[in-house]
Amino acid sequence: MGDDSLSITDNRTGKTYEIPIHYGTYPTCGAAIPALDLRQIRVSEEDFGLLTYDPGFTNTASCRSGITFVDGERGILRYRGHPIEQLAEQSTHLETAYLLLRGELPNEEELNEWTHEITQHTMILENVKKFMEGFRYDAHPMGILIGTVGALSTFYQEAKDVQDEESRRKQTTRLIAKMPTIAAFAYRHSRGLPYVYPDNDLSYTGNFLNMLWKATELKYEPDPVLERALDVLFILHADHEQNCSTSAMRVIGSSLADPYSAIAGAAAALYGPRHGGANEAVLRMLTEIGSVGNVPSFVERVKSGEGGRLMGFGHRVYKNYDPRAQIIKQLADEVFEVTGPNPLLEIALELERIALEDDYFVSRNLYPNVDFYSGIIYQAMGLPVAIFPVLFAIPRTAGWLAQWQEMLIDPNLRIARPRQVYVGADERKYVPIEER
Ligand code: ACO
Repeated sequence: MGDDSLSITDNRTGKTYEIPIHYGTYPTCGAAIPALDLRQIRVSEEDFGLLTYDPGFTNTASCRSGITFVDGERGILRYRGHPIEQLAEQSTHLETAYLLLRGELPNEEELNEWTHEITQHTMILENVKKFMEGFRYDAHPMGILIGTVGALSTFYQEAKDVQDEESRRKQTTRLIAKMPTIAAFAYRHSRGLPYVYPDNDLSYTGNFLNMLWKATELKYEPDPVLERALDVLFILHADHEQNCSTSAMRVIGSSLADPYSAIAGAAAALYGPRHGGANEAVLRMLTEIGSVGNVPSFVERVKSGEGGRLMGFGHRVYKNYDPRAQIIKQLADEVFEVTGPNPLLEIALELERIALEDDYFVSRNLYPNVDFYSGIIYQAMGLPVAIFPVLFAIPRTAGWLAQWQEMLIDPNLRIARPRQVYVGADERKYVPIEER
């Protein structure tokens, strides 16, 4: 097997094993050994065989994927080979979604058709609307989104046929088209405002802003700078390979559950403050800090473990810088020109400055991630903090669906079912309650 194998000697038995190494597109894209090949390494016939122990899957490849490439050391992110910087500069979210799902950038005709297809599916059924009205007045919009997307599986029952390409395509269109509508309705519900129906003349993000903010005017006209800024933020959030929520999507999808149920699960994983809930947590943290003068004492509290984590900092994969955070920082200037600056920006900049010089953060490779600045932009645009995770879920739907589809047509698809190393009690007898 030459260079493409690993020799392992088990010092318990003195036996040596040859295990093949499989590469990605090129070696830095990942090289892996088949985990099941370790099972042959055992000390006796009764021995179960060797497992790898990897809490949080920090070093486990759960799939082979051709969608998104991340090089955390060099701060590289590419969708289907296209650098994120170029997509953020030149593409639109809908075009990027097409790229993620179909593998290639569309030509003009394909893009028009795709845009038309999405635009035709933005409405939600009146029953779905009624379902949403059942939530309490103070329900968190992300909770409403998760519940409503899950409920869609009862409206589109043919979605269960996940092995059927045509059905997958239909549900994909529906989900990408309806997520902004559900998200906007969730927001308006929490504000006690009447719902605004989609305006299909507008762009994907223009229409979303319309459904959020339209009041009594006959036609809502989005500010082009804010419409574009939101589109860029959507591009940046569209996919990020096997992150927590995408892994949830794949795990749920691997049981062949319908995509609405799987997306509800993925969105639930996104909701947590260590993942997509971080943008909301950053804003709450900056508000709590309150002023530039309070930044040093806040950083000290984080370091001593008393102040919680510095939200918007750190990433499992990026250990140098998050390329998305850099693009967002530039975008912030364009948005602030229209909206006026967000007073929290000064606190954020000071926090970043101090953290980037401090050995605690430097030694742990903690840098601003995508969510450190996105919340400040959203807030400057007038978007309430509670819908920030929702703003992440809308574009990530494209990535979740691309990954789900890739998984379903992968000949290696098997239900996700990790193993464990059991550390509990050995066999013991049931003792009747009166004897305990
Ligand atoms: N603030 C302070 N310390 C931190 C932070 C932080 N934001 N992140 C990690 N650390 C410390 C940990 O306490 C740990 O220190 P120790 O070695 O002294 O125990 C060390 O850095 C390593 O931390 P882990 O939790 O092992 O890192 P992991 O890769 O598992 O976690 C994560 C990555 C979850 C993103 C983490 O950095 C974090 O909680 N960040 C804040 C939340 C956040 O911004 N999440 C958004 C991520 S981007 C996204 O999901 C889109």
